[in-house]
Parts: sequence; C-alpha cells; structure tokens
Amino acid sequence: MPGRFITLEGIEGAGKSTQQAVVCDCLQQAGIAVELTREPGGAALSERIRSLLLDPANQGMAVDTELLLMFAARAEHLQRTIRPALAAGRWVLCDRFTDATYAYQGGGRGVARERIALLETFVQGQLRPDLTLLFDLPPHVGLRRARGRSAPDRFEAEAEAFFERARAEYLRIAEREPRRVRRIDADRPSAAISAELRDLLTAYVADCRGHG
Ligand SMILES: Nc1ncnc2c1ncn2[C@@H]1O[C@H](COP(=O)(O)OP(=O)(O)OP(=O)(O)O)[C@@H](O)[C@H]1O
Ligand SMILES: [Mg+2]
Repeated sequence: MPGRFITLEGIEGAGKSTQQAVVCDCLQQAGIAVELTREPGGAALSERIRSLLLDPANQGMAVDTELLLMFAARAEHLQRTIRPALAAGRWVLCDRFTDATYAYQGGGRGVARERIALLETFVQGQLRPDLTLLFDLPPHVGLRRARGRSAPDRFEAEAEAFFERARAEYLRIAEREPRRVRRIDADRPSAAISAELRDLLTAYVADCRGHG
C-alpha cells in the first residue's frame, strides 16, 4: 500500500497537536508506519524559518515575505521529510500544510487565492494531501485555549477578526473539496473528537486497503 499524506488543519487552539497523537496511535494500531511532522517546520532549515515567522520581533513583516518564507520552508520540508517518507511507504501526518496558507495568508492577510495557487504548483508540483482533517471552532474558543498556553507568537497576537477570516477560508476549502477535507466540530471535549477521529480513520484505512 503506498504512503498516504494526511494533514491536520484549523485555527489556533483547535486541537490539531492534541489530536495528531490520537490519529498517529490509531494508524499505528492498524500496522501503519507513521511520520509525524508539522508546518511551518518539519526539517532543520524549515524549523529555523518557522522561528522567523513566529517571532513577535518580526511584527510588520511584508505579506509577500511571509508568504514566500512559508513556501520556502515547505520546499525544504517536502524534499527532506515528506517526499522521502511517502516514497518509503510511510503515512505522513502533518500538523498544518498549504490549506493553512490559503486560510492565513489568503483569508487572514488578503493575498489572492490565485497567487497562492501559483506557488503551490511551483513548490509541490502535483502533490496534494490525500486527506485533510479540519478542526473547526469559533475563534474565541480556540484563542482562549491557545493563549492559556504561553506568550502569543506573531500569529496568535492577531485580532479575532483575522481568525474569523481564516476560519471562513478553511470552510470554503472544505465546501469545495468535500472528499479530501473532513470538517470536525472541534468545539467539544477532546474525548468526543478522538472517538470521531478513530471511526473516521478506521473507515479510511479500510478503504485504502480495499483499493490497494
Ligand atoms: N477539545 C478540547 N477541549 C478543551 N481544550 C482542548 C481541547 N483540545 C485541546 N485542548 C487544549 O487547548 C490547547 C490548544 O490545543 P492544541 O495545542 O492541540 O491546539 P492546536 O490546534 O495545535 O493549536 P496551535 O495552532 O496554536 O498549535 C491545549 O492546551 C490543549 O490541551
Ligand atoms: Mg499545535
């Protein structure tokens, strides 16, 4: 069975990192080798670019600089981590990917979707996630969770309206691509979300095995 590329998406505090461990466990129990990774980051140089992107000292970074740094980090991540893992038959479980660029730089910052799409094709070629789990919740709920964690990074410091636009863009993507993107109601206790994910993943794995 070829490796599959699964991404976890959603605004701050949606529970992506929390549920990534659950999805990983579920796949491993099905005998699947998993590569856990995240964006921006997931490779040594990409993690350094992540620091630049999240550092509140870089407040006021030009929108295009932010966009290009996201894709620069992604190019390195694809070459060093994602493509090798998929080629080896592992399933890649990535906390955020290009949908986050459409949501944050597109919805949040106002970059035209067409410009992001050009970079997406430039950097990824034909590679797109096979399955995307979209953790959806009202921004005030996510921000309350995220801000309880540590000092806000450059994105967490944005106003709630920024995350409303990001959420709306995520939901538009889910509407356009219902087969790839599964919306999960993330405004529930973790246990309820985990249970839904286990059912979803069990069915997904069975389907993949059925189709080779
Ligand atoms: N369903 C839930 N209900 C209440 N709290 C939750 C839930 N899921 C996660 N949390 C808590 O909320 C905080 C944010 O969760 P988590 O780090 O998983 O979110 P995230 O989507 O990865 O956020 P970020 O985008 O900022 O990385 C954590 O402290 C976590 O323990
Ligand atoms: Mg996280």
